[in-house]
Amino acid sequence: MIQDAIKALQDGQPILLYDFDDREAETDIVIGAEFTTPKEVYRLRRDAGGLICTAIDPVACEKLGIPYMADVLRYAGNSGNGFKAIESIYERAGDIPYDSKSSFSLWVNHRKTFTGITDNDRSLTITKLAEATRKAMNGGHVNFGAEFRSPGHVPLLRAAPNLLKDRRGQTELSIVLARAAGITPAMVMCEMLDGETGRALGKKDAIAYGKRNGLVYVEGKEVVDYFKSIL
Ligand code: 5RP
Ligand code: CA
Repeated sequence: MIQDAIKALQDGQPILLYDFDDREAETDIVIGAEFTTPKEVYRLRRDAGGLICTAIDPVACEKLGIPYMADVLRYAGNSGNGFKAIESIYERAGDIPYDSKSSFSLWVNHRKTFTGITDNDRSLTITKLAEATRKAMNGGHVNFGAEFRSPGHVPLLRAAPNLLKDRRGQTELSIVLARAAGITPAMVMCEMLDGETGRALGKKDAIAYGKRNGLVYVEGKEVVDYFKSIL
């Protein structure tokens, strides 16, 4: 199954990536940022319905200087700027009920977008993020602020430095799969939600969606086991 997921990602296809029963218990539709098109953004918002984010490899984040939002808040909270909301929040910035820390980072739009929210605009921002990631990974220089504005409509997720050794969210699971697939390690993901129940889409329904649409379904435990066995 992991090999099928890797092959699908190499072919520019989306996969369905469930995390763990004892974590979020959510399935995200995930696709390589470099392969994202306006039609794929449409599929994510129509069929998944959660938040469309882009996870970035920790090596690229380090080179590009992409921070955790929690660190930005801590920095701002300590600066005595008088923003009471930030001062009341920063000491617990990034705390989430299902993991040790949030992977959220900046929200950006590419400078050639207009509002930033349309399928065309988000697709442009996402493919440009893939380009910046690839360039940074290859040692090239990227002027991030010349390319992107913030705030914007594409949330970035910063993958943990040691990936699955540090954290096991779809952020890290997807970057590990991207590295194994040899594609640019910038991955777009969106949670599958259930309009009937108001909850995350159940595992069975996610698997059935995958079968109907010819998409590979893979779980976090398979990813962890597979990479344990080859490391
Ligand atoms: C952004 C999220 C999603 O859960 C996404 O899957 C990435 O987060 P994580 O790595 O924590 O699973 O929070 O919408
Ligand atoms: Ca998740």
